[in-house]
Parts: sequence; C-alpha cells; structure tokens
Amino acid sequence: MRYLTFALAKGRLADKTLALFEQIGITCEEMKDKTSRKLIFTNEELGFRFFLAKAGDVPTYVEYGAADIGVVGKDTLLEGGKDYYEMLDLGIGKCKFIVAGLREHNLFDKVGHVKIGTKYPNIAKQYFLEKGMDVECIKIDGSVELAPILGLCDGIVDIMETGTTLKENGLVVFDTVCD
Ligand code: PRP
Repeated sequence: MRYLTFALAKGRLADKTLALFEQIGITCEEMKDKTSRKLIFTNEELGFRFFLAKAGDVPTYVEYGAADIGVVGKDTLLEGGKDYYEMLDLGIGKCKFIVAGLREHNLFDKVGHVKIGTKYPNIAKQYFLEKGMDVECIKIDGSVELAPILGLCDGIVDIMETGTTLKENGLVVFDTVCD
C-alpha cells in the first residue's frame, strides 16, 4: 500500500500539529503512547504514515521525496536553504528571532571581538552583517541559553516563544531579528 507520509519536527511543534490534525479527522492513535520507541506510526484506515525527526532533517526528507509533507518551523526553513515548496502556514508555534544575553553584558556595547552562540549561524551572520558588525558565530545545537551564562559567548541569536527560558536563566532581549 502507498502511504501519504508526514515528517513532523519533534517537540512542541509536533504536539501542536497533531492536535490540529486531530481537529480535521487526521488521527494517529499509535503516536499518543509517549513511552513508545517506535519511529514510524501509521493510520492504516486513512493510509497515512507519520514520523518524528529533528527539525533540521524534516526539509531533507521532503527534498529527497522520502516524506510527502513536512511540518517544520519557519526558523528551520530560513536557516536551511533546501529545495522545497512551502504550501501553508499553519499559524502555530509563533516565535521571534531575538538577540539576547546577560543584562550587565550588552554585546552591542562591547569593544573588540564579539562571540555569538546560536543554532542559526546563517541567520545570525546575516543579521550582524546588516548591522555592520563582524562577529564570530559559534554553532550550538540546543539549550543555547547556557552559552552566555557559562562564558562561551557574549550573546545568543535564538528563537523565543513565551520568553520563559530567557527569564528563568537571567537573560534579557537586546534586539528582535524578525518574527
Ligand atoms: C527553543 C529555543 C529556546 C526555547 C524558547 O528551544 O531554542 O531555548 O525554545 O522557548 P520559550 O521562549 O517558550 O522559553 P527548544 O525547546 O526547541 O529546545 P532546544 O534548546 O533543545 O533546541
């Protein structure tokens, strides 16, 4: 049987996507078992197949035709540079790209070499280039907020949804890059 295959970006976005799909009758009971270590989930009746992937891998599966449809954040698409067709904005997982750091350590006031920790080096480089600032971008794959606290960098470029992670770790927003 030929399935329609969906690649979903793991985490908060996948949960919101599945809730949205459920409202229009696209369900996958197998996926509700959070203890399962299965990688591919099917709804035989509808002929749908779902899998969870790291966000950065979702456009790759779509680009090579291994998934028919991918659901992933615009952050990943903006950073990625893959070949895909953007069908629909689901209006979920709204975030801002921000520049943040320790309040007492504003990177825009720093004289000399500035280091930025980020999951999004392309977006970060472009932003600082437009500001006329030559910064070093250090690629961090997760929990980016740790980096300035531990002194790895002067600030971060990351996405912010509720702002809770920044707040609970004593970081402040210095600028917004884009929505
Ligand atoms: C994202 C982002 C922030 C956090 C922001 O990370 O990189 O760390 O969410 O969300 P908030 O503003 O609602 O607190 P994610 O949860 O995807 O995990 P990761 O850091 O491991 O990539």
